[in-house]
Amino acid sequence: EAIEKGGYDHFMIKEIYEQPQSIRNSMRGRIDLNKGIISLGGIREYEQKIINAQRIIIVACGTSWHAGLVGEYLFEDLARIPVEVEYASEFRYRNPIINENDVVIAISQSGETADTLAAIKLAKEKGATIIGICNVVGSTISRETHAGSYTHAGPEIGVASTKAFTAQVTVLSLMALSIAHKKGTLSESRFRELLVELDNIPNKVAHMLESDKTIKYISDIYKDARNFLYLGRGYNFPVALEGALKLKEISYIHAEGYPAAEMKHGPIALIDEEMPVVVIATKHGNYEKVVSNIEEVKARNGKIIAIVTEGDTAVKAIADHVIEVPETEDALSPLLTSIPLQLLSYHIAVMRGCNVDQPRNLAKSVTVE
Ligand code: G6P
Repeated sequence: EAIEKGGYDHFMIKEIYEQPQSIRNSMRGRIDLNKGIISLGGIREYEQKIINAQRIIIVACGTSWHAGLVGEYLFEDLARIPVEVEYASEFRYRNPIINENDVVIAISQSGETADTLAAIKLAKEKGATIIGICNVVGSTISRETHAGSYTHAGPEIGVASTKAFTAQVTVLSLMALSIAHKKGTLSESRFRELLVELDNIPNKVAHMLESDKTIKYISDIYKDARNFLYLGRGYNFPVALEGALKLKEISYIHAEGYPAAEMKHGPIALIDEEMPVVVIATKHGNYEKVVSNIEEVKARNGKIIAIVTEGDTAVKAIADHVIEVPETEDALSPLLTSIPLQLLSYHIAVMRGCNVDQPRNLAKSVTVE
């Protein structure tokens, strides 16, 4: 096992550090920068179907569901296709309205999650086209779908999903960009800009990982907190949910992710000097609005850990701690902003003496209802 961990203390941290490579692997052979094209061989036959789709329904569970939420922002923003993101367990039992014009995208790391599999079977019976985004090659879900794209993140051993999440978001970005390009909802020049930026994300993730020391320092300060709040808006709202889930899963600290503007409709009541609030406040995506949300937390003595774009000054002036991420396109920012949140939860869990790779009560793959 020590050999498999490749010198790291845990699989989780190894997998976090693998992300520059695993994201690169998710894109390998799929981007041609010279020609300015994306080719996803696995879905080629169904591309027209996606372009013409009345709507896309994304079904998944857990972390994969969070990746699906990022997918909703991507497909709506770039390809102008309405998207619904569904918990597979809810979708399958509520007599959903589905027809042959719908495209269902099922996201699953393991490709074995029982609820996701059942949701696919149901949608298939009703005539929808099913596209899979799975990590495990040959898994049940990958076989049950009409077509799909593997994430190619490599085996993920840590129960808390890290590199599989960024791989799912990478594949969703490729799909949304490719469909948008073919559908004509993105100009050629904008498509190329986004493509070049996506291709450069692995380098930026590598750079992001250099903040690990700062994150460890912050983790030490807050490791004994009883609650955490995570806030984000737009593309980074799903990242806030995922950050909170990571912390819950491995450190057993109660954490909630919230859309930053919704804070005033509830969670703000919880804020006092004991409450660390992690806010994703990168430069694009409603930056000013997030800054005013941070001010609302500060006014109630909450502690702010902010994820900011390199060179930021406004948030730095009011936050208790900042973690910088390289500048990128708003649509691709989840691939960077999710990394420091993975590291934060990892360090806090290790400091609390938790079994990070095999947290209590959780399974890597949930093959029962
Ligand atoms: C379990 C795992 C999570 C995972 C979820 C969905 O709860 O612990 O890490 O996100 O199942 O799994 P899937 O394999 O379908 O992505």
